[in-house]
Amino acid sequence: MAKITADDIIKLKREGTPVVCLTAYDFPTAATVEEAGVDLILVGDSLGMVVQGHDNTLRVTVDEMVYHVSMVRRAVRRAMLVADMPFMSFQESDERTMANVGRVVKEGGAEAVKLEGAQPETLTRIAKITGAGVPVMGHLGYTPQSVHYFGRHVVRGKTAAQARVLLQHALALQEAGCFSVVLEMVPRQLAGLISRALRVPTIGIGSGPECDGQILVLHDLVGFYRGYSPKFVRKLADVTGAMDAAVRQYGELVRSRQYPAEEESVALAEDAWKEVSRLEKGVED
Ligand code: KIV
Repeated sequence: MAKITADDIIKLKREGTPVVCLTAYDFPTAATVEEAGVDLILVGDSLGMVVQGHDNTLRVTVDEMVYHVSMVRRAVRRAMLVADMPFMSFQESDERTMANVGRVVKEGGAEAVKLEGAQPETLTRIAKITGAGVPVMGHLGYTPQSVHYFGRHVVRGKTAAQARVLLQHALALQEAGCFSVVLEMVPRQLAGLISRALRVPTIGIGSGPECDGQILVLHDLVGFYRGYSPKFVRKLADVTGAMDAAVRQYGELVRSRQYPAEEESVALAEDAWKEVSRLEKGVED
């Protein structure tokens, strides 16, 4: 079982093999994703929504990211493990960026980081991070950390002008050293065009089948999130439904004294019981 590296992810594109990516946030979800043979696991800042219950991703801190990455780390052997850099962890200065990247790699155990956007400062920092030996995944199109800037305009690249900028940004990310670029909510023809223009793989989310790989939020895929589910999600399980039913049934069983049964408890041996049962008599006397 060879460990997957950034070079392997690029090689998959060269071979025409789709790159399979998913998020995970803790030991059990990571174990499931790793066992399934997914190529790349992202500890996304989507954890702010699907794990912490916030409305967006903005509140996730570097401390929290380190904590989640370290849980995922314990379950991952083969897949490439990428940590999302939280909002404002890489926007402030080169020094803060490198210190925060250092934390998710050294304390969390991440093998790569993902940064949203392609601002000039971001490009410079991506070059510095890769220069320090940490692979970087880019993220373009709808970048959830800009939720207040984008408002309801979630599909990016709808006009020729926007499309040109997106293509330039994707090429700039590749130039800065990214080993892959997430394209979120980009029209599928444009995602195809960008994918053909890049040497490194594009990883689509809501961007159609012409991307070189796909990523989804695990909780959306398996139906473990009660919030909004975007149109591009294919829900392949109903974990929430299964858990709701199990917990409801548990309540009914306890209330009706059907749980626990005798065989679900420990019994005293006959002679020990005789001795212990004297205690009851003693209490009664
Ligand atoms: O935070 C996240 O989970 C992401 C992916 C969905 C791309 O950024």
